[in-house]
Amino acid sequence: MVLFSAASILLVLAMSSIVEANTCPKECSCDGRKLTVTCVGKNLTEIPQTIDEITLKLDLRNNNLQELPKGAFSLTPYLTHLTLQRCNILRVKEGAFRSLGRLVSLNLAYNKIDVLYQESFDGLSALKELQLDHNRVEEIRPGAFTQLGFLNMLALTHNQLVYIPNMAFQGLQNIKWLRLSRNSLNNLAPEAFTGLFTLSRLSLDHNELQFFPTQTMSRLPEVTRLDMSHNPMTYLGEESVSMVKLTHLYLDHMSLQDLSDQALSRAPLLSHLDLSHNQLRYLEPLKGPYELKSLNLTGNPLYCNCFMRPLREWARVRNVKLLGACVGPPHLSQEPLQSVAPLDLRCRSRGEVLKEEFELEPTESAPPTAKPKQKGKCPENCDCDVEAQHATCEDRGHTKVPRGFPAKTQMLDLRSNHFHHLPANSFPGTSQVVSLHLESCKIHEIEGGAFRGMKNLFYLYLSENDITSLDPGAFSGAPKLNYLHLEGNRLLQFPGSAMALLPSLFVLHLERNAISKLEPAGLLSSKTPKLRELYLTNNTITSVAKGSLDSAFLGTLHLDSNQLKEIPTHALSRAANLEELNLSQNSIRYVGPNAFQPISQSLKRLYMDQMGVEKMSLDALRGLGPGLKALTVRGNQLTELPDLSPLTGLEVVDLKENPLLCDCALLPLRRWMEKLKFEVIATCGQPFEIRGQKVRDVPVFKSCTESVSPPDEKVVTAPRPPKVKKPKASVSKVSGVKARPAKPKAKLPKPTKKKPERKPVAPKVTKNQKTM
Ligand SMILES: *[C@@H]1O[C@H](CO)[C@@H](O)[C@H](O)[C@H]1NC(C)=O
Ligand SMILES: *[C@@H]1O[C@H](CO)[C@@H](O)[C@H](O)[C@H]1NC(C)=O
Ligand SMILES: *[C@@H]1O[C@H](CO)[C@@H](O)[C@H](O)[C@H]1NC(C)=O
Ligand SMILES: *[C@@H]1O[C@H](CO)[C@@H](O)[C@H](O)[C@H]1NC(C)=O
Repeated sequence: MVLFSAASILLVLAMSSIVEANTCPKECSCDGRKLTVTCVGKNLTEIPQTIDEITLKLDLRNNNLQELPKGAFSLTPYLTHLTLQRCNILRVKEGAFRSLGRLVSLNLAYNKIDVLYQESFDGLSALKELQLDHNRVEEIRPGAFTQLGFLNMLALTHNQLVYIPNMAFQGLQNIKWLRLSRNSLNNLAPEAFTGLFTLSRLSLDHNELQFFPTQTMSRLPEVTRLDMSHNPMTYLGEESVSMVKLTHLYLDHMSLQDLSDQALSRAPLLSHLDLSHNQLRYLEPLKGPYELKSLNLTGNPLYCNCFMRPLREWARVRNVKLLGACVGPPHLSQEPLQSVAPLDLRCRSRGEVLKEEFELEPTESAPPTAKPKQKGKCPENCDCDVEAQHATCEDRGHTKVPRGFPAKTQMLDLRSNHFHHLPANSFPGTSQVVSLHLESCKIHEIEGGAFRGMKNLFYLYLSENDITSLDPGAFSGAPKLNYLHLEGNRLLQFPGSAMALLPSLFVLHLERNAISKLEPAGLLSSKTPKLRELYLTNNTITSVAKGSLDSAFLGTLHLDSNQLKEIPTHALSRAANLEELNLSQNSIRYVGPNAFQPISQSLKRLYMDQMGVEKMSLDALRGLGPGLKALTVRGNQLTELPDLSPLTGLEVVDLKENPLLCDCALLPLRRWMEKLKFEVIATCGQPFEIRGQKVRDVPVFKSCTESVSPPDEKVVTAPRPPKVKKPKASVSKVSGVKARPAKPKAKLPKPTKKKPERKPVAPKVTKNQKTM
């Protein structure tokens, strides 16, 4: 009896202890199936001790824990998720989480933690997400995160960090996103982020950084997105951003007044740049980020005059989308920058001045205090705006270059006069001029030394004149010249010797001249080592000799609308960085094997429209691979195409207007088209019954599916009609045909790697345009 009763007491005790283990603490609610325990908003000062050991998720939000002692969670070692938000926690003692080797997510947001000690997060060896936002962290002690080798995301936003010491995040070997927004950071040690080899995203917005932390950021090899918005930076100097993989950069809502054109020269992959809501009145084309797709300038006081033209032109050529609107001059006010034609970006002509003066007449609300324009030194029959550093004598019938411009003039507009001849020393006292307009001035001769003394000249416009040849010394004394416009002249030869004096030349326009051949030693590498873009569209070039294009730096070459009979493969053998080649509108009937082999590693965009091509060797594109982003062969006579399947990086393809022969031989193309993420239109020209139908729609391929080997083997077993023979050069029905040029529609991607380093001398261009 006694025994029995003792036993039953034991049993009861044992049972009650089991029951107790499974009892949900009274302040909590428990889900035994999902293994979750929730004790929210109960003013708990301690962690309940009776939580089931096998609990996976524990939510203790809105309590009053104050301090997490050592081993605070040792009774629940299987936790994967722990929420301790708003628990009034002041201190996390060393080893507080030591038993939680399975924890994946820890939320400590909205507490009052001020210091992160060395072993605060000890033991959290599986943790992926750590939320520490909205605390009072001022200090990160060395080694605070060393145990968090699996952490992907660390949020430290809304804290009180002022400074990040060297190696602060050591140990975060898998971190992807580090969020440091909304602190008071004004200083980052050079090695603050060292060791974060996997970090791809970094948020530093809403801090107090006054300078871009170039050195610190350059230690982040994998970062693709960087948010620096809402920091009080005023200037971004040369090579400020040196981040090899960066694609998205947010520099909006800062106080930028100026940005060097070289600021991003070491961010070669940048595709999106947000500069919205700064104080930029003007911006030069950015050197370096050839992949740039969008440039957001919304909310900047952009003054849309001739100083913006290079940017606008650059954006057009590079397919960069510009966001933002002009604040002036008045006739362009509110006009989206993207929709202003480059030629409308002008500096004040007389008509404009008169119009503005007229508009300011008393009828409108001219400010009563408006001062009369400062009238200083200025040549007769010209207008000089000293404050804006502009001078213009456009279309005033001058037959000699006027003299006596204000010494600080940076923009000199002399277009549409009748100079005919520019003698030596035509521009004395213009050493500050950056941009000189001499378009449409009937110039046929430029004497050696004509521009002598123009040591800051960066843009020179000589378009639409009558120049037939250039004196070798024509550009002596203007060594900073970067952009030279000679399109629309009558040059008979490539003006190589004159270029030899332009070591900084970057872009050369020679469209619409009468150049008939390119000869060795005509340019390039040694004399114009920085030439990046060469435009020879619409000349009469029939031959491009080997050696004539040797330039390791050349990136863009336009040879379209000429009279080439073959692909100038040999001439390209030393243009190892060529990225864009336009050969459209030549008369090239046959594209032989390995035609682009020499540039196959660098080529990104290849245009071969309207060339009358009748046949391409199956090996014509050999060597080209994923790097090629755009390929167009529109409006040719092709009945078949080489295998395009190695070109896995294509983003723009135009095969239209070719009479493709739709039989089983075309099956690889058809299959390739099916696999693409975008639609490529190609049309059958034969056999007759299906002429005009899309390759995509015709049923002929159904019957050959079985009989054909996989496309990469290039073996076609189905019968096929006799092939078009390799055409002879004597066939010439296409020359002279004026066909509609094809325009690629998508944005063109820019190069990704192996870009030669380049540091053209940064021009000093005015930012002080006058607002009307
Ligand atoms: C919470 O607990 C503290 C002390 O433990 C007590 O002073 C406070 O009044 C409690 N608040 C509520 C809302 O119960
Ligand atoms: C450009 O900036 C404005 C203002 O910051 C913003 O509202 C807009 O979304 C941005 N546009 C793009 C395409 O980034
Ligand atoms: C080539 O130049 C001539 C003469 O300037 C012009 O008429 C023609 O339209 C131009 N062709 C192209 C394709 O630009
Ligand atoms: C290539 O040349 C053709 C013919 O001159 C022209 O229409 C086309 O716009 C050019 N394409 C590019 C991307 O420059």
